[in-house]
Amino acid sequence: MKNDTDFAELSEIDRRHWLHPVVALQQHEERGATIWTAADRIHLIDADGRRVQDAFSGLWCVNVGYGQESVVRAATEQMRKLPYSTGYFHFASEPAIRLAGRLTALAPEGLTRVLFGQGGSDAVDTAIRTIRYFFNATGRPTKKHFIGLQRGYHGSSAVGSGLTALPLFHKHFDVPGPQQHHIPSPYPYRHADGPDPAAVLASTVRTLEAKVAELGADNVAAFICEPIQGSGGVIIPPPGFLAAMRATCDRLGILLIVDEVITGFGRTGPLFACAAEGVTPDVLTLAKGLTAGYAPMSATLITEELYRGIAGAGRDGTPFGHGQTYAGHPVSAAVANAVLDLYTDGGLIENGQRVGRYFESRLKELEALRCVGEVRVRGLLGAVELVADKTTKAKPDPALKMGQRVLDHASQNGLVFRAFGDDILGFAPSLNYTEADVDVLIERLRASIAHVFS
Ligand SMILES: Cc1ncc(COP(=O)(O)O)c(C=O)c1O
Repeated sequence: MKNDTDFAELSEIDRRHWLHPVVALQQHEERGATIWTAADRIHLIDADGRRVQDAFSGLWCVNVGYGQESVVRAATEQMRKLPYSTGYFHFASEPAIRLAGRLTALAPEGLTRVLFGQGGSDAVDTAIRTIRYFFNATGRPTKKHFIGLQRGYHGSSAVGSGLTALPLFHKHFDVPGPQQHHIPSPYPYRHADGPDPAAVLASTVRTLEAKVAELGADNVAAFICEPIQGSGGVIIPPPGFLAAMRATCDRLGILLIVDEVITGFGRTGPLFACAAEGVTPDVLTLAKGLTAGYAPMSATLITEELYRGIAGAGRDGTPFGHGQTYAGHPVSAAVANAVLDLYTDGGLIENGQRVGRYFESRLKELEALRCVGEVRVRGLLGAVELVADKTTKAKPDPALKMGQRVLDHASQNGLVFRAFGDDILGFAPSLNYTEADVDVLIERLRASIAHVFS
């Protein structure tokens, strides 16, 4: 690499060689990349030295904000001391062991064991493999089907992408498979039985029961859901949703997987969203905020019952055939421990809760706009759903790409967030935001909406 960065050259290499995640590939070849060169607190800095406020924590992951020296120090020291050690062969490292202990202590009671991985997709795949193994190993080999929610997102692995329920992750990829099913999203604003929350909740319970009855409870392994559906458009289910799903899964004799890859680590206020409803899932998937994006890592937490089931199958000495080279990576684990310190001792959870309440009230103000159908927000996770007609809830013509235009205008004016395909704008400010940062966000967002809809 040369010292004086030639951005035109970089852009050319990018166009020719990097197949980017989840972009229209030919469009990317024409458009080229926006190259970020540095970041600081809540700002990204681009190739021209422009500072842009990040209202999406990277990809809803940099929960602690940029430039946290304690995290950088933990990574550097760990790289110097022990840059790698495997978890195979009964080997281990101090940061990974400490992290396993801390996570199981902080997670909802009953989740006693953790499988480390590299990211959210991997955490979900690990959940699926572990559950299949558990039912086969404990003499219930017919329990194979998985049920998720429409608009759910659970990553893009070969199997997990079938539990995701967003069309572009399915088309041409031969998923969902025959053992993967989806029931309607508990989306009060657009639900057939909405918007009354109690009716939406009752309907979701009924449809899960009906799907399990159709498949036969002996054939169903688990139901999977996010506490708030992130990539599906920040869909906030009615209050009591997780508790109702827990009770329904118990009644039906199926497992509950709660995917907190986005909602974990203070994103919605509490450390984990399921704890706020007093729910312990059978499997909890975590990533993103675990390391706040400073290094890749995920964690799949399971109950002691699941652990005993899978451990018992190896009583003859057969190893549990699941793992990866980087499972429990010491540098990622050291980063995660430093990030956990920021949440707990560093006051970031409290700051996120206080600023989250302010963000909720400020974002809700936009609901008064004619082009905004609904604002959904909990803590530092929010969405603005754009509409062409507030009364009929009709969406803008997709060809007009209104959401993308609002984002384009905002990013030219110093603010990035996310525009989902269906004119829903997504927000996930980091937990180190101040009230003044929220004011800047709202002001720039409001100006961009006004510009595009004028
Ligand atoms: C709820 C949920 N699960 C899983 C994933 C997949 O995580 P990753 O992109 O790290 O593979 C995501 C990513 O956004 C997610 O939001």
